[in-house]
Amino acid sequence: MDVKQLDEFAKKIIFEAGRNIRAAFSYDIEIETKSNPNDLVTNIDRETELFLIEKIKASNPTHRILGEEGMGEKVESLEGVVWIIDPIDGTMNFVKQHRHFMITIGIYVDGIGVLGYIFDVMREDLFNAIAGAGAWYNDSPLRRLQPVKIEEAVIGINASWVTPNNRINHEKIIELVRTVRGTRSYGSAAMEIAFVVSGKLDAYISMRLAPWDIGGGVIIGKEVGAISTNFNGKDFDFLSKDTFLIANPSIHREILDNYIEEKK
Ligand code: IPD
Ligand code: CA
Ligand code: CA
Repeated sequence: MDVKQLDEFAKKIIFEAGRNIRAAFSYDIEIETKSNPNDLVTNIDRETELFLIEKIKASNPTHRILGEEGMGEKVESLEGVVWIIDPIDGTMNFVKQHRHFMITIGIYVDGIGVLGYIFDVMREDLFNAIAGAGAWYNDSPLRRLQPVKIEEAVIGINASWVTPNNRINHEKIIELVRTVRGTRSYGSAAMEIAFVVSGKLDAYISMRLAPWDIGGGVIIGKEVGAISTNFNGKDFDFLSKDTFLIANPSIHREILDNYIEEKK
C-alpha cells in the first residue's frame, strides 16, 4: 500500500464531499431522530457517507468501511485496511448553526492508525496526519504540544457532566471546572479533538463516544504527543462505544487520577 498516494486520494474525496455538503444548504435538509429525540441524522449525513464509500470502493475494493450511518459493511475486526468514517460529526451544529461540523476519517491497517483527517467543512480547514511522519493544519506542520499546568488549561467538556448523573461523580468534575482556566463545549467531538491537537484546548473529555467520532483524531493526536485513552487509561475500544479523554501529556494522568471517578 502506497501511504502517500492513499493520503492524496483521501484528501481529494474529503474536499469533494465538503463541497457537496456546502451545496446542500441550498436544498431542503430532511431531519430525523435516531436513538433519542436529540440524536439527529439527515439525508446529507447518509448521502455523504454513501458518496465516500462509493469513491473508496471504486479505487480500493478490498478496503472495508466502518461508517456511523451503517452504509458500509458490518466490521467486526480491524483486520486489513479499515476506513472509520463519520460523514458529519456535529449533526446538531450542521442543522442548527450551519457551521462547526466535521468530516472525520481514520484509516487503520490491521488495527494500527495510519492516516487521520478532521475537516471543518464550512471553514475548509483540514487537520491531518500520517503516522510516523507528522501532523498538519492546512499543510503547515503542527507542533508537538508544550507542557501546560492544570490551572492554566482550557478543557472541552459538556456542561451536563457537572450535573448529577449516573456515569461519573459530578462533584469531581465541578472541582476540575473550578481548577482549570476555562471550559468550552463545541458540539463536535472531532472539532474538540482538532483543537486539542493544535493546542487550542488542552484536553477533551467525553463519557461515551463511538469509533467514528475519534478514529481520525487519535491518529493526529499521537503525532503531536497528545495522549488518548478511555477512563481506565487504556486504549479506546474501537469495536464498541467507550469513555474518552484526549489531553496534553502533562495533564492527562492528573485529570484521570484526580478528577474522573466513574460510577460502577
Ligand atoms: C456527536 C458529536 C457530539 C458528541 C456526541 C457525538 P454526531 O456526533 O460529536 O459532540 O458529544 O457524543 O455522537 O452524532 O453529531 O456525529
Ligand atoms: Ca459523531
Ligand atoms: Ca455523525
